[in-house]
Amino acid sequence: MTDGNDKLRGGQGSASPVLECRSVERRFGGIVALNGIDLQINRGEIFGLVGPNGCGKTTLTNAITGFYPPQRGNILLNGNDITGLAPHKVARLGVARTFQNLALFNGMSVLDNILLGRHVHMHASVWRTAGYWWLAQSDETANRAAVEDVIDFLQLESVRDELVDGIPIGLKKRVELARALAAEPSLLILDEPMAGMNQEEKEYMARFILDARDERHVTVLLIEHHMDVITGICDRMLALNYGAMIGAGIPAEVVADPRVVEAYIGGAHAAV
Ligand SMILES: Nc1ncnc2c1ncn2[C@@H]1O[C@H](COP(=O)(O)OP(=O)(O)OP(=O)(O)O)[C@@H](O)[C@H]1O
Ligand SMILES: [Mg+2]
Repeated sequence: MTDGNDKLRGGQGSASPVLECRSVERRFGGIVALNGIDLQINRGEIFGLVGPNGCGKTTLTNAITGFYPPQRGNILLNGNDITGLAPHKVARLGVARTFQNLALFNGMSVLDNILLGRHVHMHASVWRTAGYWWLAQSDETANRAAVEDVIDFLQLESVRDELVDGIPIGLKKRVELARALAAEPSLLILDEPMAGMNQEEKEYMARFILDARDERHVTVLLIEHHMDVITGICDRMLALNYGAMIGAGIPAEVVADPRVVEAYIGGAHAAV
């Protein structure tokens, strides 16, 4: 797809890519979940990823974050090849994600769930704590401060001490975003952060994503079925179908592409 690949190299000439996928391929038995994905996401972009159910969106996320490494192709983060690195190493290099199916810890408070996002910055060990307790103490203080800052940013103050079990789905999604932001990532991957939300909650979430990019300087890969959100906040986008790239570039153009319209009409989602 020469056209699409050109568009996916990005319009901002001076921008350096945070993420690059080169001919990424991932199979599960006979299923080709990703069939030669090429893309570049530049620093500061909000990059949309769309496609019908089962087209490979989450698999691409899992390939990038190390959960299901690609069998062919390469993934580069800030110019460094991270193909096949373990998930915890990818996380330490600055990639944070939210999960399509919420991955919060029930029985724990909102605050403690967000604190878990700080694990990539925690250095504590028994020996370090025993030998240098003041260092462990200052780590703890820094981590708490970072979490308080995210709680403030995402307006979660009123539920900070509540168990996550009992809060509504819209707030749960926001807590997941908070946990990811607490890691202070350079690349934030959001897998359907607005699923199950009403219009008002969607608008809030879209605003938080824009603010995260503008104020916290994260680059965002956003998987989303709501086309109004994609055209509203994404700089560029990629559409997949059956693991293949079928449309790439500026959102308004891609969503009008007959191949993309056809994929959506043929699938379970309406391109609204
Ligand atoms: N762990 C796995 N084992 C086997 N097949 C898998 C696995 N993960 C994904 N697949 C298959 O890979 C294809 C792509 O799935 P994926 O979850 O990436 O789709 P998706 O675009 O995220 O869909 P949705 O919109 O429903 O979330 C599907 O055919 C799926 O059944
Ligand atoms: Mg998915």
